[in-house]
Formats: sequence, C-alpha cells, structure tokens
Amino acid sequence: MFHVSRITHHILMKLGVDYYPEHWPQERWAVDAKMMADLSLTYVRVGEFAWGLFEPSEEEISFDWLDTAIDILRNEGLQLVLGTPTPTPPTWLTANYDVLQRDERGIVLNVGSRRHGCANNPAYQIHSQRIVTAMAQHYGSYPGIFGWQVDNEFSCHRTTRCYCDHCRRAFQEWAQKRYKTLDHLNEAWGTIFWSATYTDWSQIPLPMYSSAQQSPSLQLDFRRFSSDSWVAYQKQQIDIIRKYAPTHQITHNYMGLGDGNVDQQDYFDLAADLDFVSWDNYPQGAKGPDDIALNHDMMRGFKQRGYWVMEQQPGVVNWHPYNRPVPPGQVRMWSYQGLAHGAEAMVYFRWRAARYGQEQYHMGVLRHDGSKTRLYDEATQLHAELNRLPNISRTPAEVAILFDFSDWWTIQIDPHQHDFSYHKQVQAIYHHLWQAGISVDIVRRGATDLRAYKTVIVPSPILIDEAELETWQHYVESGGRLAITCRAFVKNQSSVWTDQPLPAHLDKLLGVKLDEYLGIPPDMECTVSNVAQTDIQSYQLWADVLEPTTAEPLMVYSNQYWAGKAAATMNKVGQGVAVTIGYLSEPFFASSVWQTLGLNELALPFNLPAGVEATRISFEGGGEGLLLLNHHESQTTVEFSQPVDALLSEQPKVTSLPLAPFGVEVVRW
Ligand code: GAL
Repeated sequence: MFHVSRITHHILMKLGVDYYPEHWPQERWAVDAKMMADLSLTYVRVGEFAWGLFEPSEEEISFDWLDTAIDILRNEGLQLVLGTPTPTPPTWLTANYDVLQRDERGIVLNVGSRRHGCANNPAYQIHSQRIVTAMAQHYGSYPGIFGWQVDNEFSCHRTTRCYCDHCRRAFQEWAQKRYKTLDHLNEAWGTIFWSATYTDWSQIPLPMYSSAQQSPSLQLDFRRFSSDSWVAYQKQQIDIIRKYAPTHQITHNYMGLGDGNVDQQDYFDLAADLDFVSWDNYPQGAKGPDDIALNHDMMRGFKQRGYWVMEQQPGVVNWHPYNRPVPPGQVRMWSYQGLAHGAEAMVYFRWRAARYGQEQYHMGVLRHDGSKTRLYDEATQLHAELNRLPNISRTPAEVAILFDFSDWWTIQIDPHQHDFSYHKQVQAIYHHLWQAGISVDIVRRGATDLRAYKTVIVPSPILIDEAELETWQHYVESGGRLAITCRAFVKNQSSVWTDQPLPAHLDKLLGVKLDEYLGIPPDMECTVSNVAQTDIQSYQLWADVLEPTTAEPLMVYSNQYWAGKAAATMNKVGQGVAVTIGYLSEPFFASSVWQTLGLNELALPFNLPAGVEATRISFEGGGEGLLLLNHHESQTTVEFSQPVDALLSEQPKVTSLPLAPFGVEVVRW
C-alpha cells in the first residue's frame, strides 16, 4: 500500500540519441561525436544489443571497443547510458545451452532474432549475470557514465510469457509460495470445476494450447507469475549494477501500452526497483495523439515521477504494414508533447540509419550515408527554444484514473463480450478528459491517499479489494468525487466470482445494487438518456442495470427490455459524491455525469479545436498558461476566452492564435 503525492515537474528536458558505434568504422566515431556535440545533445545510449561483441566466446570478455567509443563521446561532453546487452544472447550461448523460450504450443523460439531468452532459464540467468557483472565492474567508476538501461523492452514481441519446462517448475514454486498448501490452491482456483483438482504440485500445468479454454484463475496467476519472472530477472541485474556502480541511475525502456501489443508486463511492479522509468515512443503505433499522451502519463504514473523517452521515433520507421511519412515539424512537436507530460530527456532512436540487419528502412537523425536529415535541424531548433523559454512546470493534475494490470488481465481472459477491453475503456475515459484540456495522473489501484485529486475515476475494478474500499469511502466522505464504472468488484483476487450481491461490498458507498449485467453485441442498438430525456446517447458492449438504494439516477436506459432502469447514478456520501457508470459510450461521460464529477469546473474555459492538445503549465515565480500542440498537418486556430501572451512566436495579448501544421506554442494568461 502506498500514498500518492501530487506530481509536479520542472520542465527541463535534455536531448540525446541511441547510438550503435559498432555498426560503423572506428574512424567515423569522432565525426559522430562532434556532430552530436554540435547538436547540444546530453545523452547517448549504447550497447544494449552488443553481447556477442563483448563476449565473442564463452568467458572471453572485453570492452575495449566500447571504451574507445565512450572516450570519444565523453571527450565531446556527452554522457553515456549503458544498455545491458541481454536481449540478444550470442549465438555460441544459444548453441551450447538451451536457453530459448517456448511458445504456448511448446514451439521453440528460433535464434537470429531477439528477446528469445527465458527469464527462468538457469543458464540464461547465469550468463546474463556474468556479462552484467563484468560490465558493471568495468564501468562502475568509468568517467562519463550517467547510468544504465537494463536489457531492452521486456515484453517486446510478446515474450513475457514462456511455456518451457523451467517456467512450469518455477510457476509451480510460485504457486506454492502464494497458496502454501494444495488445498488452498484448489479452493482458491475452484479446481473442482471440470475435475482439475491437483494432488501434487508437479501436476500444475501452464495454460498452454488445449481443447478449450483453461481456468481463468490459472491463467490470471500465470500472467502474474510471468510478469514477476521478468521483475526478478531485472532485479538480478539491478543488484549487480548497484553493487559495482552505486552512483549510477538505473532505468528500463518500457513500451506504449495496448491490447495484444504491450499488455503482458505489470509496469508498476517493474518500476519498483528502478530509479526512473523510460519508454520508447513510436507515435505511429498509437491510436491517436491522445493515446500518445496517455502513454506519457502512464509512464509518469508508474513511478510517480518524471521519466525519459529513451527512444523517440525520428521519422519513418520500418515495422508497420504501411510506414507513413513523417512530415516536417512532427518530431519536434512529439518532443514537446514529451516535455508537456513530464519527460526529462528525449532520446532519438537512432543516430544513424542502419545499413544492415532487420531495420534498414528505419530513419535516424542521420541518413544511411551519414548526412543530416531534417530532424537534425528540428532538434537544433528545439534545443534553442528550450533554452529561451522561461522555467515552467506541469500544473499538478486534479483528476486521477486508477489503473491495474490484474484487472486488465482478468477481463482479457474472460471478456464476456469479445470487444470489451479494459484498456480501450481507459483510452475512452482519457480521450474525453484530454479533449477538454484536463490533466490526468495515472495512479495504481491500491493507493491509500487520494486527497490530492478532486475527481478519481476507477475503470472496471473487477477484482475485489476490501481494504481499498475503505480508502474510497474515506475519500468520498471528505469531499472527493469518485466514479466507478461497470463490472466493479465481481471477483476475488484469484478470479473467482464473489458469493455477495453485486457490486460486492460497494453497495453502501455507491448506493446501488446490480439487477443484472448484460453484454451488448455489436448488432444491438442501445441507448441511454438523462432523466429529463433531453440528452440521448448510444452505448456499446455492456450494461450494468442498476437498482438505486440511496443513490439518485443520472442516466437511465432508454430502450430494450431494461428501459427505464438506472444506467448511471450518484450517491452523496459525507462531503462528496460516488458515481456509478454502468455502460460504455463515446464520449465517455454524459453531461449529467460530467457535471456531477465536477469535470466542467476543471475543463478549459474555451473549446479546443479537435486534435489540439493543451497542457496546463505554471511559470516559475508565478503565472499560469498552456503548452499547446497542433497534431494536425494543417493550420488550426485556437480562440481563447481571454488575451494571452504567445511566448514562442513572441506575440503579446492575442485572443486568436493560429497554430502552424504540427505547431507548438507556449502561452501565458
Ligand atoms: C524498439 C526497439 C529498438 C528498435 C526500434 C525500432 O522497439 O527497442 O531496438 O527495434 O523499436 O523502431
């Protein structure tokens, strides 16, 4: 259990690049370092795929080439982030030891790619620890080192869950630790269903390919175990680095989240052992500009502090079915988006486009031939602008969304409606707030003090946590505005349905009982309206049909056989209000719900044009304003409700401000 403190950030963003000196002749390194220094870069990340070069055969370890590269870079004033090279075990290792992952059909992941090592494989662990020890001993007090990135993108290529024999044994041990006795485990998982009672720990399977679905309890625990396995694997490396390099900062580069994309690793757990979180921002993989913003806010939330972008898309990438052009100005604008959300460093991937290997079409700051792309000029401009901006910080968010990976996984395992997605719901909630210019913190479920927030939204907290209920009760009693959405408090932590009436234990706080829950297939037209029937909206996928006890209805279902029943309610408790939202719609909040949650007071006092992002900022020494981003390829004009000073374009007292395509502006009220 932990407290949440409001996150404020002084906006101070440094720039850097990801560099692979080993891909270029040594004579070039000094040229590159000079160009990086000319660009006023601060950080260079190196090394994360170079295991085979550091250790060309077993226990023949040398860092000579990297020393040379580091010396050249640090002599230009650059600071290094060292990637531990464990995502790419050398071929002698995979040939001599069976360290490869197995997929859920038991098929071996082939060599020649990356992330194919298994976190629970003893040989992979031993060899990983050996190379990291050698590296940390060598670089622990080497000049020019800022810190470390452990491995690279755990869970990339969906490799968090491995189904090898090592993992099966480790999972059995994990389950034994969690449940102590087989009787407890059998009871917790309800193994009496379909005759799955285990009489020996060794019988516990992994949820591999089989005739029908596996037990949701087994699946949820396997997901937790798999995530824990990489947390432990990461910790082995962190312990070594802290021992030999105690003054260095340690991070790991996360990925943007999404169903079927990056959803396998509990990023809160992974953050616990790190000094700071960083992530790799490839906006063309995101649903839209608000989704990029959500990912930035998630990264700030995983550790409740500023974070880095360790890889920023520099231009065209190579790994989409269609790789879109990146117009002039867009990377600069994406960089400002990081700044707006609390990024402390913006590191571009990669310095120079690769001539060989799997990513040849991926652009860099430099082209394949070593000449500058327009990003070089955009980064130059960005650096100059950052230097002349007054000191600003992100105004603390007054709204929190509580987030939980186990809720996400529980719903993924048994969505009941194919398209019901926990994460898409979070995106929809966030989208509505983002459009209104409301800043949001992402906070882990279980936070014990929510007083920093005026409004707290809890999307589908399907897993019951009675202790947390006390926090929520207290928060509302003392004036908080809490919204809980459909599918709340249905199952215990082992994904077993409660024997209490739904929403279990929440009925007093929310002042409702659940009459029935209904999945809505795509071919059913369903609508809700406010009580006065002046505001009608369609909804999708889900309807929790509510029976108010002490709550008042805000929205009612307006067609189908459950018409007239409550769809959203508000319950006054102490000084605050607890809102229940039983359905999913876009926009997410009906206006009666929006007002009850006080979101109208937090929204900007003027309408933002679609695709324009506004982040509230505070100026050092007083004064408030906005950082504005135009995500459009065309000019868009923002009309303010009061005159503002536009600081980047140096225009005083404007009420109407045209933003160029991918334009950025800092305004002060
Ligand atoms: C990231 C990865 C990099 C590189 C990049 C290409 O996911 O960390 O190593 O592959 O994608 O866009």
